[in-house]
Amino acid sequence: MNFPSNRIGRIPPYLFAEINKKKAEMIKAGVDIIDLGIGDPDLPTPKHIIEKLTEESQDPKNLKYPSFVGCPEFKQAVADFYFREYGVILDPETEVLALIGSKEGIAHIVPTLTDPGDYVLIPDPSYPVYQMATLLANGQYHHMPLTKENNFEPDFEAIPKEILGRSKLMFLNYPGNPTSATVELPFFKKAIDFAKKHNVPIAHDSAYNMVTFDSYKAPSILQVEGAKEIAVEFGSLSKTYCMTGFRIGYVVGNKEIIKALSVYKNNTDTGQFTPIQKAAAFALTSDQTCVTNYNQIYQERMYTMLDGLQSIGVKVDPPKGSFFIWAPVPSGYTSTEFVTSVLEQTGVIITPGNAFGPSGEGYFRVSLSVPNERLYEAVNRIKQKLKIVIG
Ligand SMILES: Cc1ncc(COP(=O)(O)O)c(C=O)c1O
Repeated sequence: MNFPSNRIGRIPPYLFAEINKKKAEMIKAGVDIIDLGIGDPDLPTPKHIIEKLTEESQDPKNLKYPSFVGCPEFKQAVADFYFREYGVILDPETEVLALIGSKEGIAHIVPTLTDPGDYVLIPDPSYPVYQMATLLANGQYHHMPLTKENNFEPDFEAIPKEILGRSKLMFLNYPGNPTSATVELPFFKKAIDFAKKHNVPIAHDSAYNMVTFDSYKAPSILQVEGAKEIAVEFGSLSKTYCMTGFRIGYVVGNKEIIKALSVYKNNTDTGQFTPIQKAAAFALTSDQTCVTNYNQIYQERMYTMLDGLQSIGVKVDPPKGSFFIWAPVPSGYTSTEFVTSVLEQTGVIITPGNAFGPSGEGYFRVSLSVPNERLYEAVNRIKQKLKIVIG
């Protein structure tokens, strides 16, 4: 067979086929599965956004091929959002590009900035798309380990010089998936200084930028002076406004990178449906009470789950952002063993940390994307049924 391409062959086999098989068997056997593995919020998209989508869908001119780079209303809304939230001024024409979900742009920026054989610097653990896009682009990746000891921040100085010299892109992601780690602006300043010194562009993935708790405000990397010379930032409407199915995101920052990415996109896609872009523009610029309310719900869920974990001896500091809990597995277990035991004994699905990279081994991720009553049920099952395992 002379298909598929070697490129497709570089994608590793799905690590959790076994767990999925077990899940399917348990569902078939009538077990009530609680899935805390997925990062898709259960909360509804706010009504005013849906209404705007419906309204814009009635206008025949919105039903034509959309603009490749994003409609003016959406790009202006992103610029307004950046000024309102971060005091960052963006030129909507040259420094903002609409994406069909941030995943699309994250995947496409790799072939936009790298040639086969070039290195991409990737946090480990992290959102798997950084690594898979690199493999699909026939690139090489270098993992930057994130550990509790270093506040889940990469140690830039530990990157070997020969790899740094061949690196064409670095990904960062805060608030982080899966670690839920957050940073302050001085970390981004350090990252930008390093990137400029070694001429490695940064793509900061801020998909969870507005999912934050208490008084914590996640900074934008573009708040660092001169960041636009070397960095872009990805953003998404998916998590903030529970719009995962809409597929709308954006990338902002360095205009040369944005121009190059738009060339890639012009030749591979045709932009997002205009009514979706206009509904997203409305979401970014209208009343933000829904964001505050949703964050409160995630925070309540987080404490419910932290409590439950504490009762089985797993201690985690409350995260300041994202809707994930990143917790160490009880001693004596690997990530996969623990996750499998939890599934078999309680019917609760959590994600093993090594799904996100080798440094995720020894951890598991809980997603807070189910209603409170299901979360309580999960916690109760874990408390009652899992005691035996680790007691
Ligand atoms: C860290 C991170 N970045 C980006 C994305 C992609 O989000 P979307 O394509 O829905 O904008 C996700 C989705 O789970 C994510 O967890």
